[in-house]
Amino acid sequence: MDFQNILFQVNNSIAQITINRPSKLNALNKATIQELHEAFDTADKDKAVKVIIVTGSGEKAFVAGADISEFAHFDVENGSKLAQKGQELLFDFVENLSTPVIAAVNGFALGGGLELAMACHFRVASDNAKMGLPETSLGVIPGYGGTQRLPQLIGKGRAMELVVTAGMIDAQTALNYGLVNHVTTQDDLLPLAEKIAGKIMRNSSVAISKAIKAVNANFKDGVDGFAIEIEEFGNCFGTEDFTEGTTAFLEKRKADFPGK
Ligand code: COA
Repeated sequence: MDFQNILFQVNNSIAQITINRPSKLNALNKATIQELHEAFDTADKDKAVKVIIVTGSGEKAFVAGADISEFAHFDVENGSKLAQKGQELLFDFVENLSTPVIAAVNGFALGGGLELAMACHFRVASDNAKMGLPETSLGVIPGYGGTQRLPQLIGKGRAMELVVTAGMIDAQTALNYGLVNHVTTQDDLLPLAEKIAGKIMRNSSVAISKAIKAVNANFKDGVDGFAIEIEEFGNCFGTEDFTEGTTAFLEKRKADFPGK
């Protein structure tokens, strides 16, 4: 694949997607969002890919937000289209992928950058990371799901404070808030994400995709998450992975799952 704004590689069943516009602190312009959509879609459909890791290029930023220069002159109609298209192509898209996605937050994750990290299934961060939703300082609000996912992850009061102050929190505070699961040095960030990916890979990809769907159902309006859990639990019984997983346990051997 020929990408201009991202790097894409698959090694040892891990797809690594690196947003690669370091001179603009990896800000998400339209072209980058489109390329990210294609990369995530390709990785999700690839049977060899068990985990996706997304990170930013350089030592300073994961993503410093949506590209302000692209939308500064937009009117109301273009503004809502920007949010709608972005959510469809990237943020909701990533959240609903069947393959687990880990955000490795290696520096600033602001605005659309934090929104991308929050759309991922979970996050790890380097100790220099800074996170926030500074949109109100620009006269706008978060438009890529930030007003919804931040309260889901850290609670309404903390989210409201961050949004209305346009403030930033450091990695340790993000860890205390539960916004990121682990904090490590910048050098150890990708190795840590890969180590977690290694643990994921031992398990059934088929069951994992159903688990993601069931957990996500808890956060969808009008959806009964318990009903989805019952349905997906039942569906597992019809899969080869279930037969292999339970048989391997009873035979006291390691399961060899057929895969996606
Ligand atoms: N959109 C477009 N360009 C951006 C950007 C964004 N969200 N964030 C950073 N950049 C660009 C800068 O314009 C600058 O480009 P230039 O060298 O061509 O002028 C380059 O990235 C480096 O950024 P700079 O501001 O010089 O770095 P800094 O270390 O002084 O500050 C930040 C870092 C993250 C504090 C600062 O870049 C910033 O506040 N960015 C915007 C964050 C934001 O509001 N995001 C939400 C957008 S909705």
